[in-house]
Amino acid sequence: MFLLSVLIMGVSTFAVRSEEHMGAAGSCRFHGRHPKTRFQLEGEPLVLRCPQVLHWESTSAHVNVTWHRNDSAAAVPGEEESRVWVQDGALWIVPASRADSGSYICTTRNASYCDKMSVELRVFEKTDASVPLIFYPQIIPLSASGLLVCPDLSEFIGNNADVKIQWYKDSVPLDQDNQKFLSVRGTRLLVNNVSMEDAGYYTCAMPYAHKGRQYNITRNIKLQVKKREEETIPVIISPHQTISASLGSRLTIPCKVFLGAGIHTTTLLWWTANNTRIEDAYHGGRVTEGERQAYSENNENYVEVPLIFDPVRREDLHTDFRCVVRNTMSSQTLRTMVKEAATFSWEIMLAPLSLIVLVLGGIWMHRRYKRRTGKAYGLMELKTGHPDSQSYPSKIKEIK
Ligand SMILES: *[C@@H]1O[C@H](CO)[C@@H](O)[C@H](O)[C@H]1NC(C)=O
Ligand SMILES: *[C@@H]1O[C@H](CO)[C@@H](O)[C@H](O)[C@H]1NC(C)=O
Ligand SMILES: *[C@@H]1O[C@H](CO)[C@@H](O)[C@H](O)[C@H]1NC(C)=O
Ligand SMILES: *[C@@H]1O[C@H](CO)[C@@H](O)[C@H](O)[C@H]1NC(C)=O
Ligand SMILES: *[C@@H]1O[C@H](CO)[C@@H](O)[C@H](O)[C@H]1NC(C)=O
Ligand SMILES: *[C@@H]1O[C@H](CO)[C@@H](O)[C@H](O)[C@H]1NC(C)=O
Repeated sequence: MFLLSVLIMGVSTFAVRSEEHMGAAGSCRFHGRHPKTRFQLEGEPLVLRCPQVLHWESTSAHVNVTWHRNDSAAAVPGEEESRVWVQDGALWIVPASRADSGSYICTTRNASYCDKMSVELRVFEKTDASVPLIFYPQIIPLSASGLLVCPDLSEFIGNNADVKIQWYKDSVPLDQDNQKFLSVRGTRLLVNNVSMEDAGYYTCAMPYAHKGRQYNITRNIKLQVKKREEETIPVIISPHQTISASLGSRLTIPCKVFLGAGIHTTTLLWWTANNTRIEDAYHGGRVTEGERQAYSENNENYVEVPLIFDPVRREDLHTDFRCVVRNTMSSQTLRTMVKEAATFSWEIMLAPLSLIVLVLGGIWMHRRYKRRTGKAYGLMELKTGHPDSQSYPSKIKEIK
């Protein structure tokens, strides 16, 4: 029993060692299955790239790539002898048959490191029903013109500048004399005056010769035409130029921007304090920008970013706050100052006090004048009543 466990420990230590020091020769790190399944039409040439190679190429020049099917230990030969071979690290099958469907594992190694990944391949029979299953989505904005690209052809084209691609829409060939469509720069199709009706399925076909046989490489494209989103000139509609706040209290100043029918995604909106971004001006976070909100009211778009003081301090009264909005059309800045609100405590204290003074003064004067002469009475009313009648009209009436 003891001997057995020693043996197991020894073996596992050796296994760890071999992984660390003999990566290239021994174990190889398996990265699992690539998330994208490759779909292919039967009878057409196929090139399967190893997803790991792109990742390696940036770090190392001398990388060896081998391929094998997951159910076979035999590596695909490196020479172009049979129907299936490896060339420049990619797996070539010319032409693909439905029996080629399955899992392929590519192993990428250099002197010190080794990687593995599996790639799923599904080969379909060439029928109309298979077209919607195998397509490359492409998008063109509704505009004067746009380009479609016949994808995944680089291995077949190589340095060959003279590429002849035939384009089809819904299986109907697109005439080259057409003003609407123009085949340009090898693999591209120029679509003029793009309209919503141009959306749909396109096919591009490139002839390819191999060992004296002529093949077609076709790609299906599902074109989506997107309405162009317009930009408008943004207008800051709030805040006001001065904002009243009490020192020590929390304050939120929203900067609200009107965009009309324009989009908010390209609209930048921010606050500054003394021409400095808020996060740089207040490292402690006493003053911050709140969360950006984009919304619509009556089909008009708005975007809003609040400035939050927690709390307001005296120095804020001397700081130059600005709300800035910018998009590709224009930019606008609105300046706002924080003003100390008239302190209510003083008013509340002074109002009754002045009333008492007034009442007492009134009584005193009333008595004094009454003692002197009854004729002067009316005149006195006028004199005492006038100076304060604007502030406390109701009280004056009561005194009378
Ligand atoms: C092998 O590849 C690894 C990973 O890309 C890299 O870090 C290492 O430098 C390479 N070694 C050689 C000898 O190229
Ligand atoms: C090969 O991959 C397929 C899935 O594509 C899986 O069903 C099968 O079990 C794998 N075979 C082996 C020997 O790993
Ligand atoms: C890559 O393969 C070639 C030929 O098969 C071989 O000479 C070379 O040593 C290999 N390089 C590595 C890093 O395994
Ligand atoms: C573009 O197409 C629209 C309708 O699809 C048409 O009314 C307009 O005249 C066309 N413009 C040009 C320049 O061809
Ligand atoms: C290639 O495909 C196009 C369109 O499907 C067809 O017209 C043409 O005959 C095909 N060529 C070959 C060699 O299969
Ligand atoms: C902004 O400048 C004013 C005057 O120079 C200063 O009183 C205030 O503290 C400054 N505020 C900030 C946040 O730097």
